Amino acid sequence: MNEVLRGRLSNDADVRSLASSALLRMFDSLYEGAVVVDREGRITWINDKYKALIGWNGTEPIEGRAIEEVIPNSRLRTVAESGQPEMLDIFNLGSRQVVVSRIPLQDGKGSVVGALGVILYDRLNALKPLVSKFHQMRSDLATARRELADSRQAKYRFSQFVGLSPAAAEVKEEARRAAERDMTVLLLGETGTGKELLAHAIHAASRRADAPMVRVNAAAIPEGLLEAELFGVAPGAFTGAGQKARPGKFELADGGTLFLDEVGDMPLSLQAKLLRVLQEGELEPLGATRVRTVDVRVIAATSRNLQAMVESGGFRADLFYRLNVLPIRLPSLRERREDLPILCEHLLETIAEQTGEALKTVSDAALGRLAGYEWPGNVRELHNVLQQAVTRSDRRELGADAFPMIAAATGPARVDRAAPAATPVRPLREAVAEAEREEIRKALAAAGGVKIQAARLLGISRAQLYEKLAHLGLVSESPDTGSSV
Ligand SMILES: Nc1ncnc2c1ncn2[C@@H]1O[C@H](COP(=O)(O)OP(=O)(O)OP(=O)(O)O)[C@@H](O)[C@H]1O
Ligand SMILES: [Mg+2]
Repeated sequence: MNEVLRGRLSNDADVRSLASSALLRMFDSLYEGAVVVDREGRITWINDKYKALIGWNGTEPIEGRAIEEVIPNSRLRTVAESGQPEMLDIFNLGSRQVVVSRIPLQDGKGSVVGALGVILYDRLNALKPLVSKFHQMRSDLATARRELADSRQAKYRFSQFVGLSPAAAEVKEEARRAAERDMTVLLLGETGTGKELLAHAIHAASRRADAPMVRVNAAAIPEGLLEAELFGVAPGAFTGAGQKARPGKFELADGGTLFLDEVGDMPLSLQAKLLRVLQEGELEPLGATRVRTVDVRVIAATSRNLQAMVESGGFRADLFYRLNVLPIRLPSLRERREDLPILCEHLLETIAEQTGEALKTVSDAALGRLAGYEWPGNVRELHNVLQQAVTRSDRRELGADAFPMIAAATGPARVDRAAPAATPVRPLREAVAEAEREEIRKALAAAGGVKIQAARLLGISRAQLYEKLAHLGLVSESPDTGSSV
């Protein structure tokens, strides 16, 4: 043995004494292989089974060598340095895969002096069910990651924003110009007018198109969780926060676009923090002591009247002005009724593609009926109404009679006004309940059953809507996804 090697080994007295203990004899007999390294990652003991597995020729001394020299890619040095055990892992030993366990070794005072690695199984065959499960999970993970990456890509292009009316053409032109400039955009408009569609199209046409587009819906996330969701969490920020930093949506969107949906629902308490990111590009994860800088383009959207909210104190004026750099107001469907034919054509094509059924058209009489309606849920509502009509009717051309829901939605109000005396006087509470029921039904139809949107149309909170549904004996008929259709 050369002098250098002997010198090193004499320094490892502590580890050696551990290695020579009865414990090691047990490892020797129990496992397919066992090896011990010191804190510097040098081998201090290795059993014959392990040597045989790696094909060590037996003439050269193995003790004292760096672990990676003998077992490339070994993680024992890391375990000896970190003191963190790795109880179960699949390890590539040459051309075979083995199941290993890595345990830090401590001296009497609790200091880490090295690490023990054991091969639990050298024949993965015996673990076939477990291993195939592992491979399945790994492939599921890869699929999930791919899907996540896809979901961070823009879903729509400008060509999908259908409309030939001057109002639609103008909004498209404004959005195209906004795509060329790297500035904050604010999309305003009623529910279902295409704000999300346009946000995706702007990102896809911008210089950030190849970077992620990340969406946060300020209305869908409980106030207490929104801060972490947006700005991230520093390691160990609070009990249960974990030792790893959790990136927020701003960080995930770094280099790309953050679509801040329903920005009008952003709690006042977070508005200052948002302003700081917009102004300085600086964000402070929850519990962090230092700020981070990010390069994110924000596209915000809301169906609320932000100006009015500023006046009533529900929205910070400084944030409003910072968001309002490039406002784009999307016209309601009422303001562009001339687009109804082309929208119907486009939406019926989408429906046919989705359902695999034959393409249907709408008759002139039906278009007349559709044009007479108010469309509080705009294009989303039109899509839902057409979908219902398609499922209801067997005919290729949908006539006016395929749209009874439109008549139902506009009908009663007109009848009431035309013939007030025809209805007998009822207790006020009953009449009010009936009117509420009717409005809620209409709102749900307009929102395609999405309660958060129905609540918004009615000007009440989602919780209030649920309360009323229960109180008025209206059973919810469709699942509440809280997302757009
Ligand atoms: N101009 C349009 N051309 C084609 N489809 C449209 C158009 N505008 C909206 N849509 C469709 O209508 C539906 C609702 O649009 P979107 O989700 O973008 O609305 P929104 O303004 O974000 O609504 P909300 O305020 O309720 O979130 C989507 O399915 C979208 O594809
Ligand atoms: Mg939206």
